[in-house]
Amino acid sequence: MDYAFILGTHPAWSVAEIDAVLGEYDLFWENERVLIKKDANIKAESLIKQLGGTLKIAEIEAFAPVSAPVADLAKQCARILIEKGSRGEGKLVFGISDQGIGGGFNAEKLGLTIKKELKGMDVSSRLVTSRDKELSSVVVGQNKLITKGAELIFFRHDNDLYIARTLAVQPYKDLSRRDFGRPVRDDHSGMLPPKLAQMLINCAGQKDHDGLLLDPFCGSGTIITEAMLLGYKNLVGTDLSEKAIKDSRVNAEWTRELYGLDTRAKFHIKNATRLAQFFKANSVDTIVTEPYLGPQRGLNDIEAVKAELETLYDAALDNFYQILKPGGRIAMVWPVFFGKEFLRPSLDKWKQVSALPPKFRHSPWAKLTERHTLLYHREGQRVWREMIILEK
Ligand SMILES: C[S@@+](CC[C@H](N)C(=O)[O-])C[C@H]1O[C@@H](n2cnc3c(N)ncnc32)[C@H](O)[C@@H]1O
Repeated sequence: MDYAFILGTHPAWSVAEIDAVLGEYDLFWENERVLIKKDANIKAESLIKQLGGTLKIAEIEAFAPVSAPVADLAKQCARILIEKGSRGEGKLVFGISDQGIGGGFNAEKLGLTIKKELKGMDVSSRLVTSRDKELSSVVVGQNKLITKGAELIFFRHDNDLYIARTLAVQPYKDLSRRDFGRPVRDDHSGMLPPKLAQMLINCAGQKDHDGLLLDPFCGSGTIITEAMLLGYKNLVGTDLSEKAIKDSRVNAEWTRELYGLDTRAKFHIKNATRLAQFFKANSVDTIVTEPYLGPQRGLNDIEAVKAELETLYDAALDNFYQILKPGGRIAMVWPVFFGKEFLRPSLDKWKQVSALPPKFRHSPWAKLTERHTLLYHREGQRVWREMIILEK
């Protein structure tokens, strides 16, 4: 079967993550927010829980010429809804997402024509619409489109109009609970959103779930708890701050109980610049971390902040090199101030790995930096995040 992945706000991060999890084989990225995986057999419901950067996974059902008349498209869609849509009790509920079709495509007109078509087939239906062209995961979830009908997603690929049926949407309630409902949040030193933590862990690419994965600046434990949920068993978080270690333990225990996991992560108070005294040489499989990113306020003297961070990162990286196994990787966030002031610690010993495979690096949506890294930021943010992947 062929699948469409609807990508999040930072599509290149999402593509890097899917590539790391599924492999680049038979992946096609020809539409900014849609990645296609051909000839696969995917368990969408479990996969979407593992991908922080994917909003929806849909099965491609049909394609048509972009210029196809609405009446023809409506017939095709009605058939898909009847054959493949879920039928609960009552009306068949359906919605349409326009994923960047543009031109004269009118989702509402098409929706109403499908409704008429269904009526002609004796099927009563309810059309779900929203102000946006694309229905959000929340709208799809709240209207039970997947269990009581279907969401049809339209996008362009190979100069055709593709029609896909949504199989699973991002577990937005769960993600929000893990972000805002956890017992301890550390808004002072900053928290990595769980989605970003998932992407970072996935991009590190550790396939062996029993190998040792370390977060040496673990803060309140986001990366370690997300790694627990992704199935990693051998997890250690360290941090200089006693409070951070206490918070991490509380959050990890909460996650363990909430999801009925049997993994127990270990946490220790340690300075990241002296880790080689604690871990044996060549003993750690992977490091995934968002270190100290500089002061949250008062970014007046950027040069001084950069110099301080480069000294910290140089010393930490030196220790990481000693404790990592040969071939072991680091996936790390570095700050970029105001979107242009990059950190430049010494990377002499390391092999730097591009987040995207060669076939996607020149895509118009890749937006890789000069050093082949990807950036993440929200409107108005002064400190952007850069994803760095290094290999020993
Ligand atoms: C940005 S926070 C990490 C946030 C974490 N990713 C989370 O989501 O909770 C940075 C952490 O680095 C820790 N830190 C700062 N300097 C350190 C050092 N030299 N060694 C270890 N941890 C350090 C701070 O105590 C803080 O908890």
